[in-house]
Amino acid sequence: MPTETPTTDGNTPLFSTDLISPEVASQLPEGYKVRPLQRSDYANGFLDVLRVLTTVGDVTEEQWNERYTWISARSDSYYLLCITDQSSRIVGTGALIVERKFIHNLGFVGHIEDIAVAKDQQGKKLGLRIISALEFVAQQVGCYKSILDCSEANEGFYVKCGFKRAGLEMAHYY
Ligand code: ACO
Repeated sequence: MPTETPTTDGNTPLFSTDLISPEVASQLPEGYKVRPLQRSDYANGFLDVLRVLTTVGDVTEEQWNERYTWISARSDSYYLLCITDQSSRIVGTGALIVERKFIHNLGFVGHIEDIAVAKDQQGKKLGLRIISALEFVAQQVGCYKSILDCSEANEGFYVKCGFKRAGLEMAHYY
């Protein structure tokens, strides 16, 4: 695929900072921040944090830029956010993808994806703050619910975040 020319500078937020919950921002540890993803996060540890979740692979900066440009062109549907520590290193991330439906009166559904907190930062409520921040976005943009898939091992975490088990996940890998 051809590389598209970046249309924003590296520090432009992926989505409006008005969608960042002031409450969540105020609950973070001293010096920590919550903010939208930005193109320059390739160098800020974003992909390393995702490595606690699953395989990321060797993503080059060119490949990152291409994918970032694609996501950025859909920034009314893709809300990726980060938590940074005192040194501006990314220590947590999560994504909300907003699906537009015909059913439920043209309803919007939020899909919560790719939640990850760096190993040495787990247990400080950062995961909980990421979910609250994503749910704030979901409510602001008009979602009537948010849903996610997780392992049994993480069920307790999502229950603490206010979710409850509903239905059954199925997968068909290609
Ligand atoms: N099971 C039960 N309870 C848990 C778990 C768990 N696996 N993890 C955290 N909790 C509890 C905590 O004890 C805490 O409870 P408390 O309020 O009574 O003290 C509460 O949930 C909030 O915990 P946080 O400190 O916010 O959790 P943390 O910052 O460590 O983040 C997370 C949790 C995101 C699961 C983190 O451990 C992680 O990144 N794990 C590896 C990647 C992963 O599995 N991500 C989720 C994939 S599912 C998805 O992406 C939709």
